[in-house]
Amino acid sequence: MSNAPRIVLVPGDKSLTHRALMFSALATGESRLTGLLAGADPQSTASVLRSLGAEIPAFDESGGEVRIRGLGLRGLRSPSRTLDCGNSGTTSRLMMGILAGYDFDAVLDGDESLRSRPMRRVTEPLTRMGAEFIERLAPDRLPISERGGRLNEISYTSAKASAQVKSAILLAAQVGGVPVRIEEPVLSRDHTERMLNALGSTVTTGTSESGTIVISLAPAESLAPLDFDVPGDFSSAAFFISYALLAPKCEVRIPGVGINATRLGLHPVIMRMGAELRLVALPDRSGEPVADIIAETSDLHGTEVVATEVPSMIDEIPILAVLAARAAGVTRVTGASELRVKESDRITAIVSNLRAVGVNADELPDGFVVQGTRAPLSGKVRTFADHRIAMAFGVLGALPGNTIEIDDPGCVSISNPSFWSTLKALASP
Ligand code: S3P
Repeated sequence: MSNAPRIVLVPGDKSLTHRALMFSALATGESRLTGLLAGADPQSTASVLRSLGAEIPAFDESGGEVRIRGLGLRGLRSPSRTLDCGNSGTTSRLMMGILAGYDFDAVLDGDESLRSRPMRRVTEPLTRMGAEFIERLAPDRLPISERGGRLNEISYTSAKASAQVKSAILLAAQVGGVPVRIEEPVLSRDHTERMLNALGSTVTTGTSESGTIVISLAPAESLAPLDFDVPGDFSSAAFFISYALLAPKCEVRIPGVGINATRLGLHPVIMRMGAELRLVALPDRSGEPVADIIAETSDLHGTEVVATEVPSMIDEIPILAVLAARAAGVTRVTGASELRVKESDRITAIVSNLRAVGVNADELPDGFVVQGTRAPLSGKVRTFADHRIAMAFGVLGALPGNTIEIDDPGCVSISNPSFWSTLKALASP
């Protein structure tokens, strides 16, 4: 193999950055955050919180310490302008949860992509808790005005394993001071539960007789401030891991990446595809497991991904499709219809772009089938302004022999503003 592994740095975890900012604003006392992702999505969360009166200092790609004086659970103020959530589903849905506990009007909006994404999955349970919503332009879509207030305790069964839905309900219950019970079919990412427990609330997670996951919250009266060092984002690391698996004579080491099991579903899938990958465990960071990840050139073969595997790898499916395009044989993904309501319709985006560069691929209603090939690939890729589509096809295009043009490379700034410079450095001899 190669001499020494290339060291690849990835920015802070996006899901954790959103939550660290939100919980800091709601805590009693001063929080200290380091390693925040400075991408466009967390900036949307910061600017929404500022519009609600929170003093969130500017933060940048250095990941340096940010101190936030919390306003307490009841301390946010009525906004004088529309809350612009940009491209960020997490900002819009989790903020709807927080605002459900507040007795004032707020209007949430987003960019064209976010305006096309469903919101009733969150407004429906929050309405049952007692919040009121008005869809201003179209059913189930932003812009939406919200008025919260006194909330009821509910027991809610979610048909989807969605951390955004679960987190919105947990945040509403925490801010509103009411207990809540949520059932989801498979455990979705559990960062909100971990943070709530670390800050003084009591969240328990168990399994029902039928095998569903049951999460219960007994809210704390107030939340302690955070001392949080955000681990590297596994979802960003997945692109560079994949480059290393596919490129000739390549080995990378990615230090300090979050390896929470609810995020790591890509790991067992690529291991059974034949990946040469090692996780070197480090001490937990701020209640989240962390490891250095080492990946090297591998001979991959196709696999089958089924519904129960999807939630813990939902954001990694675009890059899995790229691995499948270079693996021997066929890869089939099913049970992933949620991909149709992400930053783009990712099933259509994946399949149309694979075809555009010369790979045989077919859409299924809830997934896709890809036939791997070793032929040189070339063509133009449409990102649909979706950062993960841009990065997945960026990796494919950086492999020797491939020539791929990406229509909107700038959209990677949503989750990794330094993606292209990191990839370029990795791909250069
Ligand atoms: C996220 C949850 C997931 C994921 C998104 C971030 C979160 O969405 O796709 O990128 O931070 O809670 P769903 O909850 O809709 O599955």
